[in-house]
Amino acid sequence: MAIAEIAYTAEQIRARIAELAEELRTDLQGDRPLLISVLKGSVIFLADLIRHLDLEPEVDFMSISSYGGGRSDTGVARIVKDLEEPLAGRNVVLVEDIVDTGLSLSYLVRTLHTRGPATLKVCTLIDKSVRRIVDVQVDYRGFTSEKFLIGYGLDFQGHYRNLPYLMAVNDVATLAARPQVLLQELPHSAHSGSS
Ligand code: IMP
Ligand code: MG
Repeated sequence: MAIAEIAYTAEQIRARIAELAEELRTDLQGDRPLLISVLKGSVIFLADLIRHLDLEPEVDFMSISSYGGGRSDTGVARIVKDLEEPLAGRNVVLVEDIVDTGLSLSYLVRTLHTRGPATLKVCTLIDKSVRRIVDVQVDYRGFTSEKFLIGYGLDFQGHYRNLPYLMAVNDVATLAARPQVLLQELPHSAHSGSS
């Protein structure tokens, strides 16, 4: 079995984001939403999503990390980079790359709610709902997955964010041992995403 294989092509992602944008547009009608991207994984998704939304969205960015740097199951996180925009009275959409255990999202939602947004919705490209540890509400999801994914903003140790498609990793142990191993075997026309 290949170490990783294409899970969603660039075209499949584009089509799904157009549908998500349509859902958002219907729900947010008449309002100028503030879309918050959680760095770094969701920036590519945000960039494509806002180009499908004709709502004059505003954007802002924040970054959080778990204490100790690694993945934590305590849900204890801290803000590394905070928002610039006030949220009071705004219609806010939190744009995530992946909701996995839900710990990051749960922290974010709790934090943002204290700032008094009129509404707060969550839009994630990938929902790994089977892996959830804490219950969090996801209002919009692009795809569901159980596998480790890379590409389209998602990284493994800083690699593969720039792939225009999403790959599912079959052999995480090999990738962990040699994080750059896939760079050689990516589809030659890597940036067409059509294979
Ligand atoms: P959680 O929901 O708090 O467990 O963490 C979600 C975060 O973990 C995401 O925002 C990603 O940064 C990272 N993550 C979880 N699953 C994956 C994956 O399959 N590929 C890449 N990053 C992932
Ligand atoms: Mg994230």
